[in-house]
Amino acid sequence: MRSVIGINDLSVQEIDDLISTAKDIIANPAKYSDVCKGKKLATLFFEPSTRTRLSFEAAMYELGGNVIGFSEPNSSSASKGESVADTSKILSCYADILVMRHYKEGAPYVASRNATVPVINAGDGGHNHPTQTLADLLTINRCKGKLSDITIGYCGDLKYGRTVHSLISALSRYTGIKTVLIAPDKLALPGYIRKDVLEKNCMPYKQVSSLEEAIPELDVLYMTRLQRERFATDDEYECLKNSFILTPDKLVDAKKDMCILHPLPRVNEISVAVDEDQRAKYFEQALNGKYMRMALIMKLLEAAKDGNKEAELEHRTDLVCDNPRCITATEQELQHKFVLTDEERGTYRCIYCDTKAR
Ligand code: NCD
Repeated sequence: MRSVIGINDLSVQEIDDLISTAKDIIANPAKYSDVCKGKKLATLFFEPSTRTRLSFEAAMYELGGNVIGFSEPNSSSASKGESVADTSKILSCYADILVMRHYKEGAPYVASRNATVPVINAGDGGHNHPTQTLADLLTINRCKGKLSDITIGYCGDLKYGRTVHSLISALSRYTGIKTVLIAPDKLALPGYIRKDVLEKNCMPYKQVSSLEEAIPELDVLYMTRLQRERFATDDEYECLKNSFILTPDKLVDAKKDMCILHPLPRVNEISVAVDEDQRAKYFEQALNGKYMRMALIMKLLEAAKDGNKEAELEHRTDLVCDNPRCITATEQELQHKFVLTDEERGTYRCIYCDTKAR
């Protein structure tokens, strides 16, 4: 069954097609108003969400379909100890497509291996968030008219910011992308993205410590919230929380057509005064998310008609994942699996969370 767990589950052609469909939905909404009539989407949200869950729900309703689901684990049998595998098998009996957000990295992947309907990852821990990336890509495309030949700066929590991880991976498949990483050392981009995505694809990147230094060359500035819920201690968060705050004075040297994105919610990293600036696109980005999710739901429901199960990657089972945030740490009887991601260096990474085998 075709699922979307990471952004690379979609080819560049498919992403470009989703963007075209989203633009057609924007231009002709009535054409799509009963495409999903009689279909049900289930939202399985084990972590808080406003935009992602409600935009999926709005997307399904606007396609003429229905929605069931839960928005916190305490209202599901997960609170009784039910596994992700069992939950997804059960929900497959009630819905035609599942959307899962989970605090454990790799949980939606486990769901996709057990469900008999398509599964969409709506954010797994600090790992991936492919449908936010679809929203980001449509926004960049609508602002810049292209997805190649741009300089993009990512600012804030690049360690746990799953939206950043997915967007960097997506853009690695377009040409002429220059990346600027703006983060405190403690919140630097994980190695699996730096080495296996930026370096492996020979993408030029630099790490800088000041927003002012980075801003003048950027076409896109991608601000992020510090992911407080994933920090080991509150003290650590308190020390870092004011590291980067975008205020109107910092935009003086920015390009006139730069666009400012943020997956939202924001805490304090973009001053409210910036909202007035015509370069602020984050509210449009949230709306674009609904259109891209409509396009994706239609695509996966169409693909589900052929019913084929996706083949599993070749993997090793003699290695152990030591990431406590990985789904292998909690899911009962889940076999640890590792895939070879770098032949030259002999690097194996966990199939669920991308942690490197020691
Ligand atoms: C993001 C997320 O959940 O990762 N929010 C979203 O889905 N729009 C970003 C965040 O929570 O900071």
